[in-house]
Amino acid sequence: MTTRRVVVQRGAASIAAAACGLWLPTLARAQSARVRVGFMLPYTGTFAALGVAIENGVRMALDEAGGKLGGREIEFFKVDDESNPAKGVENASRLVQRDKVDVLIGTVHSGVQMGIHKVARETGVLNLIPNAGAHAVTRALCAPNVFRTSFTNAQPTLALGKPMVERGHKRAVWITWNYAAGEEALEGFEQSYTAAGGTIVKKLGLPFPNVEFQALLTEIASIKPDAVACFFAGGGAAKFLRDYAAAGLNRTIPLYGSGFLTEGVLEAAGDAAEGVITTLHYADSLDTPRNKQFRLQYAKTFKMQPDVYAVQGYDTGLLLAQAAKAVGGDLGNKKAVQTAMENAVIDSPRGPWRMSKAHNPIQDIYLRQVRGRDNKVIGVAAKAVEDPAPNCRMA
Ligand code: PHB
Repeated sequence: MTTRRVVVQRGAASIAAAACGLWLPTLARAQSARVRVGFMLPYTGTFAALGVAIENGVRMALDEAGGKLGGREIEFFKVDDESNPAKGVENASRLVQRDKVDVLIGTVHSGVQMGIHKVARETGVLNLIPNAGAHAVTRALCAPNVFRTSFTNAQPTLALGKPMVERGHKRAVWITWNYAAGEEALEGFEQSYTAAGGTIVKKLGLPFPNVEFQALLTEIASIKPDAVACFFAGGGAAKFLRDYAAAGLNRTIPLYGSGFLTEGVLEAAGDAAEGVITTLHYADSLDTPRNKQFRLQYAKTFKMQPDVYAVQGYDTGLLLAQAAKAVGGDLGNKKAVQTAMENAVIDSPRGPWRMSKAHNPIQDIYLRQVRGRDNKVIGVAAKAVEDPAPNCRMA
């Protein structure tokens, strides 16, 4: 049981409001109560650092908005979802039924997201997704109360095939964890790589979050493809980069991936990551005043460097603060909150973006290369990429 209450700080105003709460009309009383914000994120396991970065980002944006939402104090609740899909529904229900959160922010893992999504659709709770790219939640099962501030799993890899073929790599091996995020990243890669004239000669996989890569690396060495493309993230990505280099493959077979491969792991991977080329909706070195200011402030506040997960958390906070302001703190006004979020323009460190009709960011995808412990932008791989969301019928 890992739920705990954090921040219970009452200003003089809210104490006064609570004191005369009995006399206030219902709406005013509801509005004077604190906004209950629930984090359902991984704080343990291979994605632990991703959960922390997301929470940091959200808090930073809310602090910048004055530490309140539409004039109301905030109370935070937390659940460690352990990236365990089997507990997804139970953990989400805990936040919604027991803690009565107004908004559920979560999560990272696509399998766990499907549990949250079931609860979000059944209860109508506002759900902001700060990472998990599971296609269904903004495609066939899209919902008016569910908004994603990150990506669909195919969005980064839809931009990966072309640059690989342009670099002369026509025969590739694909490798990933066997679960929704890996399978859907492959969907984007297969589409873009074959359209550009490449052939995937072998698809390799292992169960999430397994990191015993040795047998698969031996198989890659024997296939001798022009290049390898992959989806891995978090602690597992750092281990994959190190094992790939330790096997000597980085000298003979160039490694590519959706950019999560090199996010938040560059210190842990060290020289093993040098030169790796990836596609993603963010890059450390984006040369804009907005990104520079964000990176400085994040580093100062949390004593660590931000990554794409911190940016997605930050944008989640920006979206929430913008919508709360638009509805004067009345998050119970679901229709108005939905309209505000659908119309929001997010001034993100990644560049400004807005929501697609299916509630997923329309965004540029950058081509990046690891150079000296940094994800350097080397181009824009694709402009204003919108997930096709063919089967989304918003209720
Ligand atoms: C996912 O499971 O959807 C997922 C996890 C980690 C990432 C990206 C996607 O970095």
